[in-house]
Amino acid sequence: MGKGFSCCNEIIEWVRDNIPKGSIILELGSGRGSTQHLCNDYNLYSVEHEKRWMNKFDSIYIYAPIKNGFYDIDILKEKLPNEYALILVDGPPRKIDGKKIGRKGFGENLNIFNTDCIIIFDDSDRGRERKLIASVCEQLGREVIHYKGHDHRGKGTYFAVMAKEKKDGV
Ligand SMILES: C[S@@+](CC[C@H](N)C(=O)[O-])C[C@H]1O[C@@H](n2cnc3c(N)ncnc32)[C@H](O)[C@@H]1O
Repeated sequence: MGKGFSCCNEIIEWVRDNIPKGSIILELGSGRGSTQHLCNDYNLYSVEHEKRWMNKFDSIYIYAPIKNGFYDIDILKEKLPNEYALILVDGPPRKIDGKKIGRKGFGENLNIFNTDCIIIFDDSDRGRERKLIASVCEQLGREVIHYKGHDHRGKGTYFAVMAKEKKDGV
């Protein structure tokens, strides 16, 4: 089980450059990338569907198994903090136990999140993620900027950052 699951270093750098230390960050999907590298400087909440990835790092973990194609939303409704400076969308994984899951549930359940914050989408060059981003942009009336990163093998990868402001700057 390798580094292929971790977000790219450029996401970590972007967060460090743009989100003040000590801010609350909510991430969907934990691991050795984002969780390990952000937990010391931020007040990090990690939504995690898999028990074996729980409590590996110094984050506040929210255990939410997959239900109806997304993290169990009743658990999220009960456990999510009220406010956060950033949501990092990096889970659930594309396939779980051979079943297609992916991150589209985020776009289908936007109302349970406080979206008045910056949102980062990992892997923004992938087809499914592009669809998700387009749907969230439309629902929230906001835009993203795509940034290039590099995976652990040095291969180009992308992530998208959605600013807090709406398209017209409101
Ligand atoms: C894309 S990963 C999340 C990665 C995390 N944001 C990071 O940067 O480390 C999505 C899910 O895969 C699982 N996972 C995390 N690291 C893994 C690894 N090294 N190998 C296999 N599964 C992993 C966890 O259940 C996690 O919620």
